[in-house]
Amino acid sequence: MLGLQLPTDPRWVNLAEKSLEDILTDHAYCEQKAATSCISLIQLFSDKDELVRELAPIVTEEWGHFRMVLHELDKRKLKLGRQRKDEYVGALLNFKKKAVAAKVICSNICSFAPSSKRVVASVFASFPCTLPMMS
Ligand SMILES: [Fe+2]
Repeated sequence: MLGLQLPTDPRWVNLAEKSLEDILTDHAYCEQKAATSCISLIQLFSDKDELVRELAPIVTEEWGHFRMVLHELDKRKLKLGRQRKDEYVGALLNFKKKAVAAKVICSNICSFAPSSKRVVASVFASFPCTLPMMS
């Protein structure tokens, strides 16, 4: 059923055979996320010509992988399922939203109260990630 071409741990084979549709669905969404992440980066940094030129073919490649996984599903008469929620990715996205919101708020504070820049800079210094400082 799997058509494996190399010796593979039988524990993994057993799991894969039991939930091949889930595994292929998960794989398809990994490919989709790779493509859409590149598209998002292109949208965010459209002024970085070299970056855009490097990412554009990766979008094509990853979307091609997505289509290949769809083909594998079709060959086995399986369906693309719904995207599984990943708690780790969810936590990262929540963190990103908070970090972006904090940056916007701090930027607004600096715009309306330039004398507070030093305080805002110290807040960012204690932030657990590296965010670009606003000018
Ligand atoms: Fe891929």
